Amino acid sequence: MNVEETSPGIFWLDLDSKRIIATKNLTPGLTVYGEMLVEVEGVEYRSWVPYRSKLAASILKEMAEVPLRSGDKVLYLGVASGTTCSHVSDIIGSGGHVWGVDFAPRSMRDLLHNVARHRGNISPILADARDPGSYSALVPTVDTIYADVAQPDQADIVVKNAELFLKNGGWAMMAVKSRSIDVTRPPREMYAGEVETLKRGGFHVETVLELDPYEKDHAMVTARFES
Ligand SMILES: C[S@@+](CC[C@H](N)C(=O)[O-])C[C@H]1O[C@@H](n2cnc3c(N)ncnc32)[C@H](O)[C@@H]1O
Repeated sequence: MNVEETSPGIFWLDLDSKRIIATKNLTPGLTVYGEMLVEVEGVEYRSWVPYRSKLAASILKEMAEVPLRSGDKVLYLGVASGTTCSHVSDIIGSGGHVWGVDFAPRSMRDLLHNVARHRGNISPILADARDPGSYSALVPTVDTIYADVAQPDQADIVVKNAELFLKNGGWAMMAVKSRSIDVTRPPREMYAGEVETLKRGGFHVETVLELDPYEKDHAMVTARFES
């Protein structure tokens, strides 16, 4: 089977007549959300399902650069039960670390029980991402912030967290759900508003990718912090 690494830690596998994206499984034999495990020449890969993960959808929509590298430190806002976070954990490897913030106790319990306890590079944090000061003692300076909180003030939340935790020149990836901002206005207007907030907060916005058909009325914004 042909395996191609198109960005560090992100692989394309030719499976029968289909091409799928995948990450190298940090915990061989274990799945997180029922994804397929595929072994090629002694290496186990986990398929990365774009209908379940906006980051996978962004890669399929030709995200120019995935700002994640082996050994990176990542602050993940809106980690939920860890579907996307588990692939981030695969990509950054055992030398990297993800601090995953969510305010829903049920999601945190699932993250802890099903994902974090098997992976030494994930620390779950039960907290409100609007109050980054409440977890500042737990999180160091990071290379990347990934945000998917589906809140109308998400760009403000990213800026607040960046001021405390993101290194100069670090990246933010922010999944914007236009319907969580205003159902009556066209999605592109919503994305532009979020982009403006990031710019005012010291970010240089690199790309805005619409994620249909994988996620309707969603976009992924990537931006570099230049405070
Ligand atoms: C769309 S889901 C995230 C899905 C996840 N990123 C993934 O791809 O696997 C949004 C999550 O954000 C969390 N959330 C919303 N507002 C939040 C806030 N202010 N602080 C922390 N978590 C928040 C919700 O509890 C929910 O789990």
